[in-house]
Amino acid sequence: MRYLTVALAKGRLAKKAMEYFERIGYPCEEMKDKDTRKLIFTNEEAGIRFFLAKASDVPTYVEYGAADLGIVGKDTILEEGRTLFEVLDLKIGKCRMCVCGPQASAGLLRHQEMIRVATKYPNIARDYFYNKKHQTVEIIKLNGSVELAPIVGLSEVIVDIVETGSTLRENGLAVLEPVCDLSARVVVNRVSMKRESARIGDIIRKLKALVAEEVKA
Ligand code: PRP
Repeated sequence: MRYLTVALAKGRLAKKAMEYFERIGYPCEEMKDKDTRKLIFTNEEAGIRFFLAKASDVPTYVEYGAADLGIVGKDTILEEGRTLFEVLDLKIGKCRMCVCGPQASAGLLRHQEMIRVATKYPNIARDYFYNKKHQTVEIIKLNGSVELAPIVGLSEVIVDIVETGSTLRENGLAVLEPVCDLSARVVVNRVSMKRESARIGDIIRKLKALVAEEVKA
């Protein structure tokens, strides 16, 4: 039987997602070895294999069918804009995409000023300012530690993920406008959805039941 292949976004989400796969009957012992240099982990009996990828690459693997399923944040799904099915909200890794900055920038937002927006998510930022707010801004792409930008004067605001809010607080910044809610999602390749409907359907059903259980708890 063909292996079902699952791509997981590296990091916090992957650990939690693997815990979920284990609980629905798809454990992967190989993956628990922290010192391993392996890239792909197989559960022979269950006919499933998992690999870890950079979050922004997960939708690419799924769109091309190199992975049947993917677990990745909604932020990455929105930013990458790949063709795939988003089938389930795992309700883990909950956070928000927000426009943030010093309080002094709030007025610039209100008055639709031409401002600079630093972000790791240029597509999400562009969609928000151009399509939702109809405000012309200059978007500056960064690759990390985006909170630095308004502090050193690269931009007036940032569009970034806020989880606990402590990064903002410690740097004298605040949420100025919420953009959208985020969490980990299950995505499926369009062809796999049909070709592997029995096995994928089984996984989605079980994950859905688990999410419902967790939400109640
Ligand atoms: C994310 C995000 C914020 C921070 C928010 O960064 O970009 O910086 O987490 O979390 P908080 O509200 O709980 O403080 P991440 O740690 O992923 O790394 P990065 O700065 O390199 O983007």
